[in-house]
Amino acid sequence: MDSLSISYAICVVSLLTICISAKEFNVLSYGASGNGITDDSLAFMKAWKDTCSEAASSATLVIPKGKQFLVHPLIFTGPCKSGAINVMLSGTILAPNGPDQWNASDLSTWLAFEGVTGLSISGFGTIDGRGKGWWDRSCRYHPGQGCFTLAPTALRFQNCNNLKMLNTNFHNSPQTHVLLLGCQNVELGFLNIQSPGTSPNTDGIHIQFGRNVSIHNSQIADGDDCISIGDKTYDVKINDIKCGPGHGVSIGSLGRDGEVVQVNNINVKRVSFHGTTNGVRIKTWQTGRGLVQNVTFTNINFTAVENPIIIDQYYCDKPDSCKPTDTGVHINDVRYSKLIGTSQTEVTINLNCSNNVPCSGITLDNVRLVSATHQFNQLVSSCNHVSGLNRGIIEPKSCLKI
Ligand SMILES: *[C@@H]1O[C@H](CO)[C@@H](O)[C@H](O)[C@H]1NC(C)=O
Ligand SMILES: *[C@@H]1O[C@H](CO)[C@@H](O)[C@H](O)[C@H]1NC(C)=O
Ligand SMILES: *[C@@H]1O[C@H](CO)[C@@H](O)[C@H](O)[C@H]1NC(C)=O
Ligand SMILES: *[C@@H]1O[C@H](CO)[C@@H](O)[C@H](O)[C@H]1NC(C)=O
Ligand SMILES: *[C@@H]1O[C@H](CO)[C@@H](O)[C@H](O)[C@H]1NC(C)=O
Repeated sequence: MDSLSISYAICVVSLLTICISAKEFNVLSYGASGNGITDDSLAFMKAWKDTCSEAASSATLVIPKGKQFLVHPLIFTGPCKSGAINVMLSGTILAPNGPDQWNASDLSTWLAFEGVTGLSISGFGTIDGRGKGWWDRSCRYHPGQGCFTLAPTALRFQNCNNLKMLNTNFHNSPQTHVLLLGCQNVELGFLNIQSPGTSPNTDGIHIQFGRNVSIHNSQIADGDDCISIGDKTYDVKINDIKCGPGHGVSIGSLGRDGEVVQVNNINVKRVSFHGTTNGVRIKTWQTGRGLVQNVTFTNINFTAVENPIIIDQYYCDKPDSCKPTDTGVHINDVRYSKLIGTSQTEVTINLNCSNNVPCSGITLDNVRLVSATHQFNQLVSSCNHVSGLNRGIIEPKSCLKI
């Protein structure tokens, strides 16, 4: 057992001598080939088992650089013995190449960590979802027999508290790149997420049932939302992000099944959008109920963005299922401060709120948007069932009233 791992100890000599023991488990020592062709799943599972059951104060799973590891769907399950589980991801992990190579009946997820507390991932490695085979058969763009509405999320974290993932690259996920489900105290930073703007449903990062999540200093280019925030999510900070192509940063969609939603304390700052189909968006289903409250968007810039500022409370992709009498989610206390740049659509500020529960406490504070093309003489703002106030210069002229 110990022959497969490297252990070392760091001792700090002071009044008391404190030793921190650490152990490393390299997938190559467990028989992984790293040639990108041979199935390395079993080696990964064995290496994880030893990492997770190691009692040292820290345990590290090593995925070395310069190698490509083909792995089938895997779940890295906790809880682990050590309170500090590291994954030194320096090489590339390759997904099965498209649906024909997929050997599991569950199409929802490729790689997942479940119930691992104190997990840190770093190492400048790459998670390559090889999504093209899935996109080519997606129902969204290629409807017909044998098309897929669901394709795998590249990496899901479920119930992983005190999670940190830094300096990691994601390419071409079949669908969502990173999914946070029920995780608290999360830091995601220096990520580079890249897939084509035409790839279907390839969200960058989606958060659901999350608390205290920070996402920073990352670049996201994909075919759906760069970052999306789902229900029961609180205390999220998003800063220093480059987004585009993609569908922007979105709170929602929320309330599809008529549930009572709650999203609070979302702070988005220093984000630049380039050529995205939305900028900062809040979208709720007419059928939903509940509350979205205390959201700030600060220091945002847009380059040739469609719908730079949008609240859409009439989101409904099944028109028959939504009625004007539906309850609606209440949106309260949303501040847009220092937003500048160019719009690709005539309606630049679109606050389209529910007729049953109007949006309240919306602030526009120094928002200056001009046309990206010379197609529109004048950009416009549009208000529907919304109240709030204006500060500083608002261009185009604000429709918002107290
Ligand atoms: C898929 O491949 C992995 C790794 O070789 C294996 O452990 C698993 O049993 C396979 N699953 C199916 C359903 O064949
Ligand atoms: C939020 O999470 C960070 C780690 O990302 C942690 O350092 C901080 O203490 C947490 N804050 C609260 C209030 O739990
Ligand atoms: C609003 O959210 C911010 C974080 O974005 C938080 O610091 C602040 O306490 C929240 N305000 C209220 C009233 O909850
Ligand atoms: C847009 O924002 C990004 C990130 O905050 C920043 O690096 C860039 O200089 C900004 N561009 C403009 C034109 O303000
Ligand atoms: C507001 O939403 C309604 C219902 O979907 C739609 O018909 C209308 O065009 C929207 N208004 C704007 C300005 O987008």
